[in-house]
Amino acid sequence: MTPTRIEITRPDDWHLHLRDGDALASVVAHTARQFARAIVMPNLKPPVTTVVQAEDYRRRILASLPAGARFQPLMTLYLTENTPVEEIARARASDSVVAVKYYPAGATTNSDSGVRELSRVYHVIEAMERLELPLLLHGEVTDPEIDIFDRERVFIERHLIPLRERFPALRMVLEHITTRDAVDFVSGAPANVAATITAHHLLLNRNALFEGGIRPHNYCAPILKRETHRAALLQAATSGDVHFFLGTDSAPHPREAKETACGCAGLYTAHAALEFYAEAFEQAGRLDRLEAFASFHGPDFYRLPRNEGRIVLERAPWIVPDEYPLAGSTCKPMRAGESLAWSLVETTAS
Ligand code: DOR
Ligand code: ZN
Repeated sequence: MTPTRIEITRPDDWHLHLRDGDALASVVAHTARQFARAIVMPNLKPPVTTVVQAEDYRRRILASLPAGARFQPLMTLYLTENTPVEEIARARASDSVVAVKYYPAGATTNSDSGVRELSRVYHVIEAMERLELPLLLHGEVTDPEIDIFDRERVFIERHLIPLRERFPALRMVLEHITTRDAVDFVSGAPANVAATITAHHLLLNRNALFEGGIRPHNYCAPILKRETHRAALLQAATSGDVHFFLGTDSAPHPREAKETACGCAGLYTAHAALEFYAEAFEQAGRLDRLEAFASFHGPDFYRLPRNEGRIVLERAPWIVPDEYPLAGSTCKPMRAGESLAWSLVETTAS
């Protein structure tokens, strides 16, 4: 029988870009209506590198929420080659910072301050391992010699395997995984290693970049991969394996920054995140495993309580708007103008 209703524990988004200022105010409600908590990425301009900056940013997020919203931002620090070890201790002691984000310099949006040479931050990673503060990895090499579709696999070979050997107790999350190689690495690792999976990497393969012409709104980092990889991600997400959990990587950009000669990376999915994941899980015939992926594995990994609220989705088709406001511009969301099968109809906070 085709299900018409899904009721699950309120989920969290373990990887999200909320931006700042007017853009933050434009997008945060989409996330807060679905998710109880979200891990907020620190790739602002300038990046969020200290606990003081993270706490200020957190206050700006809370101030941008619609009245009555029940939503908790979980903050991250941006790892640079100048991050002092003391900042790790401050992060561990803070109530608001839950992890540190590693961007290879140049890998994606606002990553110029990222790490050029991993060995230069070994002393900081050693402190994270000791203090059990998770390291969140953008897992791609930036070597221009490496084919863009191979950059995640090569990162695993060149950097991740050695990092695991050097810091076996380090708690790490390989973010927004896109390949079978990443699935194999993470599923074979112990419980201190995990991965997030986006809705767009579950639903789209790289053909979506070139359907009838170039599709800048489907360009993201890491780039969409071929169908065999999408199938491996869907299998992992719906397998019940606790290593894998929800992280949208929803990343709004103004339309003009994507529809241009050198467009920005990022898909905006926060407007319908759960609806997208439900569609993917339904495709795999595993709606029964959506709750564990969306609402249990993440808090269990981060050692946070599972949420008490609930959300309800119903099979009630709706058309995604062609655009949403984004600061003084607009943002074209995933599936703009198209129909989605599932609708979020109810969220209870506790
Ligand atoms: O597609 C992406 N967009 N990937 C990232 O890693 C960053 C993000 C952004 O901030 O726009
Ligand atoms: Zn991201």
